[in-house]
Amino acid sequence: MGAHATDSIFLVGFMGAGKSFLGRKLAISLNLPFFDLDREIEKSESRNIPTIFQERGEAAFRVSEERVLAQLSLPAVVALGGGAFISEKNRAFIGRKGRSVYLDWPFETLCERILGDPHRPLAGNELQLASLFQDRLPVYRLADLDFCPDFSDPDSAVRVLVERLA
Ligand code: S3P
Repeated sequence: MGAHATDSIFLVGFMGAGKSFLGRKLAISLNLPFFDLDREIEKSESRNIPTIFQERGEAAFRVSEERVLAQLSLPAVVALGGGAFISEKNRAFIGRKGRSVYLDWPFETLCERILGDPHRPLAGNELQLASLFQDRLPVYRLADLDFCPDFSDPDSAVRVLVERLA
């Protein structure tokens, strides 16, 4: 994995992996701007994510996700939404613009964090979540780096990640 000073870093992972939490800290540490892709989609659509899903459906959300990702002003640290890396088009874009880091957590941990979260339209049902996770896992593992963050000490987690990206 070649390192370039101007690479963007894209945080990949399932809902609840802490992509935004870690991304904000990573951006400060790397002195790069930070974007949370979901928040950028909400700004662009002037609606929150559950409303986009309700009013337009998931397919339309995925179209916005691809468009907004491609329009970000890079280089930056980008926290992707849990489904963004599943799109081949997005993965190709990410590969051209920088490096991807998979935040690797066991499903049980993620499920405890997100099950029933009203802000996450896909997190309503444990069985569906489990099968979504299984389907996505091989794609998440295509990320350039696999990282198991230790959130008991987030600052040191960021330091370890910065070292691994160097
Ligand atoms: C989604 C994850 C969400 C958001 C949308 C769909 C997914 O982002 O993009 O609800 O398909 O996994 P987070 O991973 O930030 O929750």
